[in-house]
Amino acid sequence: MTKKIKVGVAGCGYWGPNLIRNFRSLADVSLKMMCDLNTGRLKHLKSLYPEVETSTDYKHMLNGVNLDAVVVATNVKNHFPMAKAALLAGKHTFIEKPMASSVEQCEELVDIAKKNGLILMTGHTFLYSPVVRKIKEIVDKGDIGEIRYISARRLNLGLFQKDINVAWDLAPHDLSIILALMGEMPESVNCRGSAHVTPGIEDVTTMCLSFSRQRSATIQSSWLDPRKVREMTIVGSKRMIVYDDLAPLEKIRVFDMRVERPPHYDTFGEFQYAYHYGDMYAPYIKQEEPLKTECQHFVDCIKFGGTPISCGTRGTELVRILEASSESLKKEGAPIRLSQPVNDNAPAASCTARSLPKGTWKTITHPILPFSNGNGIPGIVGQFQPETVAI
Ligand SMILES: NC(=O)c1ccc[n+]([C@@H]2O[C@H](COP(=O)([O-])OP(=O)(O)OC[C@H]3O[C@@H](n4cnc5c(N)ncnc54)[C@H](O)[C@@H]3O)[C@@H](O)[C@H]2O)c1
Repeated sequence: MTKKIKVGVAGCGYWGPNLIRNFRSLADVSLKMMCDLNTGRLKHLKSLYPEVETSTDYKHMLNGVNLDAVVVATNVKNHFPMAKAALLAGKHTFIEKPMASSVEQCEELVDIAKKNGLILMTGHTFLYSPVVRKIKEIVDKGDIGEIRYISARRLNLGLFQKDINVAWDLAPHDLSIILALMGEMPESVNCRGSAHVTPGIEDVTTMCLSFSRQRSATIQSSWLDPRKVREMTIVGSKRMIVYDDLAPLEKIRVFDMRVERPPHYDTFGEFQYAYHYGDMYAPYIKQEEPLKTECQHFVDCIKFGGTPISCGTRGTELVRILEASSESLKKEGAPIRLSQPVNDNAPAASCTARSLPKGTWKTITHPILPFSNGNGIPGIVGQFQPETVAI
């Protein structure tokens, strides 16, 4: 029998229990400890999982129970100090999104992990969703032509956060998907928003990202909307995809619709746009819990090596965009140009899409595989099988 990976989870509020449930369900994991400052939360979780130890002392979790890996699912402002302490204690570290409160903090974590040969992964859960993997597969095959724009809406009433605005809370999901589909970082970011409920903390924001080749994306995020909405539209030059994550069936619909401008015409009377209305289809997608795939991926990276799909560099890129969005908010929506991301040999933004297999992860130990990110830029994927599909 292979050695189980010993995991501890810090943060047992709203999201932590989902991580606890999933890590506990993995055959190659031994969930050793659940840690929270709130004894009421620990008592509740102990009643669900009596075999798992609990503690209010994070230092004890790091040093007292011989863990291999630590999961940080606390409030965002605590991500950096807790993840740094975990890495310095020699633990592989999984940090919930957004990875930290600044690019500077993210870069420090990436650096410590690299120097100590540890896995650092961020909770970009949607990259592990079979629905998003399917969209990426359709886009990469060229079925929708070149992406022209993406628009995303993630709205609901609450949950209001005290330390971050709604863009830092909700937009990471959309950003991780958009970066994977676009295959690159945006050139600039602008963001507008307003704080209606908690002074100084925007509860409604609209972020706009400009990419190369006149491509763009908008992300609307709100904690102040009567309806829960989780929608994304990807408009390509040949077809368009509508992704509704709340739809019970048919989460993705591909519309064979486009409009074309005639290449030339002699008189204004001859000029007509060509509108194409074709079929709509909804691809079949096997349901699986993205968080379980994500947790298994973290464990596989620890066991077999390789760079996680949502590695520290991907987390840093996302925080770079959020940081720019906050700067733009302060400047009433002025566009903020992004500097080039660090080159640390980690896969480029698009690589997040390159190594997810169908169904569960299959990690093997043959040498790392080269890939092209679709723009002809070579990169490194990690130790995965060549037949793995793009997401
Ligand atoms: N991946 C996803 O889909 C997803 C979904 C929701 C939330 N999240 C992320 O999960 C994280 C937690 O969010 P949440 O909504 O559960 O927050 P929450 O406020 O409900 O829970 C945070 C918990 O961390 C505990 N905590 C704070 N400091 C601590 C410390 N020093 N030691 C031990 N425990 C400590 C708090 O007591 C609290 O119980 C956030 O980063 C959030 O963005 C991710």
